[in-house]
Amino acid sequence: MSVNIQFTKGSGIRLYTSHDEEYIDAVSGTFNLSLGYSHPEVVEILQQQVEDLIHVSSSFTGELASNVLNSILEHAPEGITDGWMRDIIGSTANEGAVKIANKFNGKNEVLSLSLSHHGQTLFTTSISGNAFRRKSFSNTISNKHAIVPAPYCYRCPYAAKYPNCGYLCTEAIYDYVEYGGSGNVSCIIMEPILGNGGNIVPPPGYFERIKKICDELDIVLISDEVQTGIGRTGYMFASEHFDMQPDIITLAKGLGGIGIPTAAILYRPEFAVLEKFEHSYTSGGNLLSLAAAQKTMEIVSREGFLQHVRDNGVVLGQLLNGLKEKYGHFIGDVRGMGYMWGLEIVDKDGAPDVPLTNRIIDKALEEQRLILRSSRYGFGNVVKVRPALTATVDDVQEICDRLDKLFSQL
Ligand SMILES: Cc1ncc(COP(=O)(O)O)c(C=O)c1O
Repeated sequence: MSVNIQFTKGSGIRLYTSHDEEYIDAVSGTFNLSLGYSHPEVVEILQQQVEDLIHVSSSFTGELASNVLNSILEHAPEGITDGWMRDIIGSTANEGAVKIANKFNGKNEVLSLSLSHHGQTLFTTSISGNAFRRKSFSNTISNKHAIVPAPYCYRCPYAAKYPNCGYLCTEAIYDYVEYGGSGNVSCIIMEPILGNGGNIVPPPGYFERIKKICDELDIVLISDEVQTGIGRTGYMFASEHFDMQPDIITLAKGLGGIGIPTAAILYRPEFAVLEKFEHSYTSGGNLLSLAAAQKTMEIVSREGFLQHVRDNGVVLGQLLNGLKEKYGHFIGDVRGMGYMWGLEIVDKDGAPDVPLTNRIIDKALEEQRLILRSSRYGFGNVVKVRPALTATVDDVQEICDRLDKLFSQL
């Protein structure tokens, strides 16, 4: 999507041009505006912070960072009790997680899933499961990473059907490590729901098997919650909901509330192996990021906040499934939870229809003033719907009404 619209104001899920034209953003920026545009409480705290002090070196922000970390850890899955707040983006948080795993077990091969996305630094491009981002950069190709099959039940690579599939995708991971790998697999990194790859939700029992494989083969399990974390699925951590039991969790996007860049790495206490000089960035844990993250945690932790995402998420799912019933000739699948949904767009033979997916994204913007995004950066066939967590049930209804109007004209 490359467009020439300039927004000058935003509020909640709505964006405005200088001519006061209103758009609905159904994907909360790049899924990072957990609290929507310009949430007043976060704006207020930032205004105060800007007036008081914008930057001091991270040598002097330790206590503040540890307070923010504690407010995140309070909600972390059992056993995750420590962490690191010296990143501002998800890519480097994931690199930090891999550094930790490598240092912890002295091994170096990294596994990840096909269709995964873990960032766009040279290393995270290497370990992400999409070749189109790697093809111009030969330094991203090495025998120290391997891509293993994703739990993509709708298009199972083994043409199997859950629940009688025997979890062939997890068996393939086991087989790779036992028979195909370097003998030195250090860690596996996975998103609890594959976000960029197409909102792929693993079936029940999947993570139980993954955990067993990791334990048996001595592999560190990293949960990339850059997209799913901080309430996106209706739970503070999707890893908790799926009982994934990771060793390390990474966060970014939604942690900054209204788009303030910030990231964190959380882990079990035995993984506290990094020295400060091994993973620090000039702006990591800066005062504005910390202020935004602290306020965001306070708001998302309020009683009823996540329940509202879960309840409205059910409504959103029902409305999207209603659209699938009406437009089943091109909506092949609807999947998701909370405020993280995807519509799989197919052609008459059920094959992925990427041109139609991109047409939907473009027409939504031009004709419905509705901002959507597609999977795999325009190379995929899933339309993503991920409004800010503050979206009301009326907002959800409005998004689906606009989708309905658009689909009726295709
Ligand atoms: C699951 C996941 N991990 C990591 C990243 C990279 O985060 P960032 O763009 O902040 O580096 C993204 C970004 O889209 C993501 O979706």
